[in-house]
Amino acid sequence: MSADGVLRIENVGMRFGGLWALKGVSFEVRPGSIVGLIGPNGSGKTTLMNVISGVVKPAEGEVAYAGRTIADVPTHDVCRLGIARTFQVVKPFAGLTVRENVAVGAMYGRDGATLSTAACFDRAQALLEEVGLARVAERPASDLTIPDRKRLEVAKALALDPSLLLLDEVMAGLNASEVDEALHLLRAVNARGVTLIVVEHLMKAIMSISTSIVVLAEGKKIAEGLPAEIVASPAVVEAYLGARYAARQGRGRT
Ligand SMILES: Nc1ncnc2c1ncn2[C@@H]1O[C@H](COP(=O)(O)OP(=O)(O)OP(=O)(O)O)[C@@H](O)[C@H]1O
Ligand SMILES: [Mg+2]
Repeated sequence: MSADGVLRIENVGMRFGGLWALKGVSFEVRPGSIVGLIGPNGSGKTTLMNVISGVVKPAEGEVAYAGRTIADVPTHDVCRLGIARTFQVVKPFAGLTVRENVAVGAMYGRDGATLSTAACFDRAQALLEEVGLARVAERPASDLTIPDRKRLEVAKALALDPSLLLLDEVMAGLNASEVDEALHLLRAVNARGVTLIVVEHLMKAIMSISTSIVVLAEGKKIAEGLPAEIVASPAVVEAYLGARYAARQGRGRT
């Protein structure tokens, strides 16, 4: 099989002092899929995002995207491979306007070197409309509410024109209708051919959007499968979902 577009995570281990934040984690993400990455607080989800996006190098194992090992690639070049990510703790350029923040993303994206400044601003404007931020395009990013900062993170990442997008809790703090809008947006992005890895604690959202789910607990992968398999997994219920969630789904054990 061709390695085109496949993300391969092989036996990844990452330690902070004496703590293994990740240990022996392996799975594959097929192009076009939406993989939900779930697990309790501190289970290693953000650390794995950091490893995949090249922000940190794993102590053990390997990550390869489209046949290329990420560890060889300087962090600032990982996005040129087509990988973009959002940050759980959002980091806009506070002194720039919302539109400028997104335009900077376009300038540093895969085709940024070939785009004119005007083209970068055009792309930024289109993305702001898509994520629902056109109304605050001229405001400094530091003025935004938390939900709007999450939207800005998504727009900045999309401006890089990724083929693989890593989303770290972009729906946290949104109300129910805003979550529905976010899901609609992510499905539209995926329909354009962008592979997604979605970290989220909102189970209803993650179960509805994911084509498959990987579950971490204490840095280890404890389950992988279809959403329906995951909610019925006794190990996942025990480590994360809890019996009440599983019972609500009508499949679990109480
Ligand atoms: N830079 C760091 N230095 C030391 N320990 C760290 C660092 N980053 C993460 N850790 C530890 O690694 C473990 C995994 O953290 P991580 O942030 O990846 O979890 P998470 O699954 O994203 O949690 P949450 O759901 O709360 O966001 C935790 O025990 C955390 O305290
Ligand atoms: Mg996290």
